[in-house]
Amino acid sequence: MASLREINPDGCTVTGHGRNSDVYSLNDGRIAKVFNKGTVPDEEIENEYRKAVASYQLGVPTPRCYELARFRGSLCIIYERIEARNLRELIAEDNERIEELIGMGAELSRNLHKIRAPRDIFPSMAEIYHVRADSVSDLFTSDEVEKLHRLIDSIPEGDTFVHGDYHRGNIMLRDGELMVIDMADAAYGHPIYDVLSTYMYGPFIIKIFTQEAAEKLTGWTPKIINRVWDVFVRNYFGVYDKAVIERIEDNLLFFCILRYITFLHILPGLPEEMIRSAVSMAREVLFPFVDERIETVKKGGLYGF
Ligand SMILES: Nc1ncnc2c1ncn2[C@@H]1O[C@H](COP(=O)(O)OP(=O)(O)O)[C@@H](O)[C@H]1O
Ligand SMILES: [Mg+2]
Repeated sequence: MASLREINPDGCTVTGHGRNSDVYSLNDGRIAKVFNKGTVPDEEIENEYRKAVASYQLGVPTPRCYELARFRGSLCIIYERIEARNLRELIAEDNERIEELIGMGAELSRNLHKIRAPRDIFPSMAEIYHVRADSVSDLFTSDEVEKLHRLIDSIPEGDTFVHGDYHRGNIMLRDGELMVIDMADAAYGHPIYDVLSTYMYGPFIIKIFTQEAAEKLTGWTPKIINRVWDVFVRNYFGVYDKAVIERIEDNLLFFCILRYITFLHILPGLPEEMIRSAVSMAREVLFPFVDERIETVKKGGLYGF
């Protein structure tokens, strides 16, 4: 990567922050997502770049991605700058807009799940989950880790585009239309992986965190979190029957525990006691029921309908 262009930092200002990056506004209507040194391996940054370019070409409403470059010696990705605000802020400001904005968010998610993601550019989300399951082998017995793998294998493979981090901070409203940013975790797989991202920042966060922690993490009160989820689930699945929605949620809760458990070493700054209580929760409500759940899903479908 010796030939990468060096961006002139003069006059560039910071306009946003990512988990491991600072986002600078450049002078030409573009932004540079500059990765903090030593946080993300070069290979992952290159993958994010390739996936962002491909996503745009596949018709995902996402900012154009131009090039990999260097900014004060750090690797960065250059994108079109969008004048947009994310759903987290918009809904926190005016929760009367939940029906409208989350309705649009659910429709966008459904549309993304009509796109096929080419396997030469996008990784398999199931494979990513398998790697994550192995990453928590210090917390669980080998038998338990085996169960995590079996549960992942029970999710039909699927070949659609999955964003991988479909939450309110990555969904932006520009000129009345929604766009998604942040293709770092994009993959191919079953759409449930995206539904799980939404569910995780929805009812799941209320179930496992204190109200205070949930509010801090989401910027929303539990009442808003639940309303957002209700609108999402009705619009994404197109079902209004309470009993059907309960079955969907029951399966999502189970698979979301899987998601959470495999993330224990990835979530930044998760306190030791949260990790311990997650391990006990998994032993109580997940592992004893894995085989039973796999059978239920085989018979009744992943969403229970
Ligand atoms: N194309 C863009 N135009 C304008 N702002 C952007 C753009 N891409 C990212 N940002 C800003 O930078 C922040 C972090 O970017 P993001 O790609 O979501 O990083 P991370 O992968 O760490 O979540 C966003 O929340 C947003 O405020
Ligand atoms: Mg983001």
